[in-house]
Amino acid sequence: MQVMPCSREWRANAVRLMDADSRRSADSHLIPLKMTGFDGVDIYLKDESTHPTGSLKHRLARSLILYGICNGLIGPETRLFEASSGSTAVSEAYYARLLGLTFTAVLPRSTSKSKIEAIERQGGLCRYVDDPSMIYEEARSLADCPGGYYLDQFTYAERATDWRGNNNIAESIFQQMSLERHPVPRWISMSAGTGGTSATIGRYILYRGFCTRLCIPDPEHSAYFAGWSEGDGAMRCNRGSRIEGIGRPRVEQSFLPGVVDAMIKVPDAASIAATHVLSRMLGRRVGGSTGTNFIGVLWAAAAMRNAGEEGSIVTLICDSGERYADTYFDDDWLREQGLDTAMATQFVEESLERGYLRPELLSAEKLRVP
Ligand SMILES: Cc1ncc(COP(=O)(O)O)c(C=O)c1O
Repeated sequence: MQVMPCSREWRANAVRLMDADSRRSADSHLIPLKMTGFDGVDIYLKDESTHPTGSLKHRLARSLILYGICNGLIGPETRLFEASSGSTAVSEAYYARLLGLTFTAVLPRSTSKSKIEAIERQGGLCRYVDDPSMIYEEARSLADCPGGYYLDQFTYAERATDWRGNNNIAESIFQQMSLERHPVPRWISMSAGTGGTSATIGRYILYRGFCTRLCIPDPEHSAYFAGWSEGDGAMRCNRGSRIEGIGRPRVEQSFLPGVVDAMIKVPDAASIAATHVLSRMLGRRVGGSTGTNFIGVLWAAAAMRNAGEEGSIVTLICDSGERYADTYFDDDWLREQGLDTAMATQFVEESLERGYLRPELLSAEKLRVP
C-alpha cells in the first residue's frame, strides 16, 4: 500500500467535489408493489437503478474513493484499478473522471457489452480475464505500478461504508418506510456480490435493534450459501455466476455471515423468470440480481403467510434490465445457457397469484434459517 504524497488542498477539493456531486443527486425511490396473492404483506422496492451511474454501486464507489482519499492513499497522481463484474467499475470510472484520475477495470470476458460501453463512456479503461476468479490477481498486479491503487471492493466494501448511518442505504430504507402501515419491515431480501450492501443493512438492523430479519438469496454458481450454511469461509465454487453482480467463486471478506438470518439458494432459471415477471409488473426492465432478490421476497412472504404474520418486506432494484438486453432478455442466450425460463415463469406467476412459493423456485439445497 503506497501512501500518496499530496497537498491538503487537493484532498479538501476532492472531498468537496464528491460532496457537491452528491448534493446534486436525489435519494432513490421506495416503490410499493401489489402482490395479489399475499394479502396483508406489503412489498417495497428500493430503486437503486436511478443513481447517475445506474446501480446500487454508485453508493459503494463513492464510499471506496472517499475512503482512499481520507486514508491518504489517493492523490492527484493516483492510477486507480478495480476488479469488478461491471457495475462497480461504471460508478468508479464516473468518480475517477470527476477527480481527474485514471481508472482501469479488470472484468470477466463475459461482462455485458452495455456495461463495458458505460465504463468506457466514463473514460475508464477495460482489461479482460477468461477465468472470472482471476480478476482479483490481475487487478492487484496491474496496480503494482508507480501511483497504482487497487480499490479492492471485495475487501473494503463493508468497512468503507458508514454502517451506523450517514444516510447509508439502510438508514434511507427505514426513514422512507417510517409513515407506512408496517414501518419496520419483517424481512429485507438482498443478494450478495461483495456482500457490502447486505453487511450495511444487517449491521444497521442490529445497531438500531429492529426486529427485521435479513434474507440473502444466493444464485446457482456461488460459494456464499455453502460457506454460510457450513460456517466455512474457505468454501469455493468453480464456475462464475451467471447472475451479474452477485454470487462469487469464494466467500469475500466483505460478506458478514453473522448479520444474516436466512439464506436461500435460487436456480438461475428462477432468478431470470422473476426478472421477467417483475419487469412486466413494473412496465420496465430490471436486472438479473433484482430477480434473485424477488425470489427472496416470495420466500419471505410465503414464510410470513405460513406463520400467520402480517407486515412489510423490502428489497432492492439493483440495476436496470436495459443492461441485459443481450442476455436475460435474449431467447437465444437463454437457449445457449440451457435455461428453461418458461416453466419457471409459470411457477413465479402461480406463486404470486396464490400466495405461496412453488418449491421448484428454490434449489435442492433449499434454505437455512439458524
Ligand atoms: C447488479 C448488482 N446487483 C447486486 C450487487 C451486489 O451488491 P453488493 O456488492 O453490495 O453485495 C451488485 C454488486 O456488484 C451488482 O452489480
